This record gives sequence, structure tokens and C-alpha cells, in this order.
Amino acid sequence: MAHSILILYGSYRSDRAGIRLANYLVAEFTARGAQVELVDAKAIGLPMLDRMYKEYPAGTAPEPLETLATKIRGADAFVFVTGEYNWGMQPGLKNLTDHFLEEWFWRPAAIASYSAGRLGGARANLVWHGTLSEMGMVVISSTLMVGPITAALDEAGVPTGEGGKALARAFPRFADDLDWWTEAARRQREQRAPPY
Ligand SMILES: Cc1cc2nc3c(=O)[nH]c(=O)nc-3n(C[C@H](O)[C@H](O)[C@H](O)COP(=O)(O)O)c2cc1C
Repeated sequence: MAHSILILYGSYRSDRAGIRLANYLVAEFTARGAQVELVDAKAIGLPMLDRMYKEYPAGTAPEPLETLATKIRGADAFVFVTGEYNWGMQPGLKNLTDHFLEEWFWRPAAIASYSAGRLGGARANLVWHGTLSEMGMVVISSTLMVGPITAALDEAGVPTGEGGKALARAFPRFADDLDWWTEAARRQREQRAPPY
């Protein structure tokens, strides 16, 4: 059965560039046979965190939260596409992530960062490792760091130039790593129910 992967992206900027990387990843994971869905925080229109999803009495959470909770619970793996604002996380993606907790548990997560600079969002990438780990995901060691983002991917999400070549070279190992852990976690969940 195909692995179901959620690709999560959280920039709300009008001129956002990271959507190129999100679209690239959707296309590449789909080409490998995964069942992929892009979760675009801006398109969903999530509120700023007030109550977490689990703090609403059953059946009363706002519709976007209910729909997203179902998608997160049903996914086999997650890919977080993160830009870097002032050496840190993008608030839109963090806001989306914080609405949930147990819904994320017992699945692998991969981090793909990018930025306008040559470091490819490395500082935000690093911060996400600890956060996703705290939220019950197993963060794979392979990662992607893409920069400068607009030189590495065109508007259609097609790799261009040296940065694009580097991304295309790095992607197969990143995907293989996620695939292996996705399969391992899925088998283990089938074999033995998560302890909590
Ligand atoms: C508020 C803000 C802070 C930024 N800080 C950084 C930074 O610390 N490091 C960096 O490499 N780029 C930084 N940039 C440039 C971003 O990497 C670039 O604008 C990128 O395209 C942002 O992602 P987005 O277009 O998907 O929103 C910053 C951009 C903004 C808007």
C-alpha cells in the first residue's frame, strides 16, 4: 500500500517562494508512488492558536481543525517545508503544528528547509528537529537545505541552476530515508499498538 505523506508549508507572505519547494516535493514523492497531499497553512486559514484541537469538546472544533486532525491522524509520514525568518521558524508553520500534539505521534518526519541565502534555512532547520521530536515524531537524519530558493527552483517548482542540481542529487537519499522509516513505523504500529 502506498505511503501517505503530508507535506506541510506555512508561509503567509504574498510573494512567498517556499511554495516552489513544497510543490517540488509533492511532485517528486508522487513520482515515487506515494500518496501525497500538500497542507498549506495559508490556504486552510487556521486561526492563531487559542484552544488546541484536543481542548475542544468532541465535535465542536472549528472545521479546518477537524479536517486537518483527520489528515494528520491518517498520514504515515510528514515533511515539514520550512523557511527561515530572522534565524528562526516561520510562525505560520509553527502555529499550524502547535494546534495538535497526540495527532502527530508515532510517525517519522523529515525537514526540508530553504532561504534566500546560501545556507538554505539551516538555522530554522535545526530548531525544527527539537520541536518535532518533542511532538512525538521521529525526525529522520537526512535533510534538505535549499538556497537561494528562487535560483534553485523556478515558479513551477522545477530545479534550475547549481542549486537545483544539488537538490535533485540530494532528494533520492532523503526520500529513501523517509521511506524506510515510514515502512518501519507502519509495520510496528500494525504489530503493536502505541503504548500511549
Ligand atoms: C521576516 C523575514 C525574515 C527573514 N530572515 C531570514 C534569515 O534569518 N535568514 C535567511 O537566510 N533568510 C531570511 N529571510 C529571507 C527568506 O529566506 C526569504 O524571503 C524566503 O523566501 C522566505 O520564505 P517564503 O518566501 O516562503 O515566505 C527573511 C525573510 C523575511 C520575510
